[in-house]
Amino acid sequence: MQNKILLIGANGQVAWELLPCLQTLGDVVVASRNSTNYIDLAKADSIRAIIRKLQPNIIVNAAAYTAVDQAEQETELAAAINGTAPGILAEEAKRIQALLIHYSTDYVFNGNNTTAYTETDPVDPLGVYGTTKLAGEQAIQAVAGKYLIFRTAWVYGLHGKNFLLTMQRLAKQRDELKIVADQIGAPTWSRLIAEATAQVIAQIKSPLYEIETISGIYNLTCGGTTNWYEFAKAILASSNTNLLPINTADYPTPAKRPAYSVLSNQKLINTFGIQLPDWNQSLSVCLNGEILNDSKE
Ligand SMILES: NC(=O)c1ccc[n+]([C@@H]2O[C@H](COP(=O)([O-])OP(=O)(O)OC[C@H]3O[C@@H](n4cnc5c(N)ncnc54)[C@H](OP(=O)(O)O)[C@@H]3O)[C@@H](O)[C@H]2O)c1
Repeated sequence: MQNKILLIGANGQVAWELLPCLQTLGDVVVASRNSTNYIDLAKADSIRAIIRKLQPNIIVNAAAYTAVDQAEQETELAAAINGTAPGILAEEAKRIQALLIHYSTDYVFNGNNTTAYTETDPVDPLGVYGTTKLAGEQAIQAVAGKYLIFRTAWVYGLHGKNFLLTMQRLAKQRDELKIVADQIGAPTWSRLIAEATAQVIAQIKSPLYEIETISGIYNLTCGGTTNWYEFAKAILASSNTNLLPINTADYPTPAKRPAYSVLSNQKLINTFGIQLPDWNQSLSVCLNGEILNDSKE
């Protein structure tokens, strides 16, 4: 049977990269607030209506309320989109035996770890965004259909709002930038999230996997670790802008961020044999279309 894939979130960083990847796996229908296939994750009726109309066998939800600081003010809206909507998606998916693929975040953790978080580590979000994303995970799990939740982190790419594009823009405007150096994580290229998602779907189609047995949460980030200051240095390696490392305390934001956000990808590797490259290799491919190799043969 040809896949019929419903992709929610046309214009987001991850959704934008997902579209061409998913199109290699079947017919893809995109739904968003601005498309003829209208969906507003804050409106339960619109979620149910589009899924009942299209009857996909795979639903990929790359839409979310992602404004981390604004969420501290817009608590109800963030809760509806990130917390309630995933549960409705899961219910509708279960009704038609569809697989739901959803994305979550390192912000479900408090950042007190000193080694990479596994999927079973205790959650303890610090702010509204993380709390609502956690509620979304739990809502999907409570429905207990066929689902995969990919927890990712520090997403960047060449499309959408993200740290890489912000740094490139600011570097053109300013001679000096102060960047937080005491938050640790693994920057993850949106294209690699999309490609890994497509690889997983391709594997699930094979008789190797019973979806029920692999339903669950999987960490999905690039390898290695860094901080925002070092990430900015790598992004702006050929810029003249002076970068200064600062502490989180010197850059107060409405939402608290985890100080340590590194996720272990071992479960993804063990289950699907998929491992994303280190963040610095990925960044260089994203920026230059090539891998910068230190070891000269
Ligand atoms: N960005 C990160 O660093 C990061 C880190 C960890 C996890 N994640 C997770 O990864 C996933 C993808 O994130 P992303 O960075 O690609 O997000 P993004 O670029 O901010 O895009 C989010 C998308 O959601 C759509 N959206 C927002 N509210 C909606 C609503 N009520 N109904 C329908 N669509 C709505 C937006 O539509 P419009 O374009 O119309 O506004 C946008 O296209 C999300 O689940 C996010 O929580 C992201």
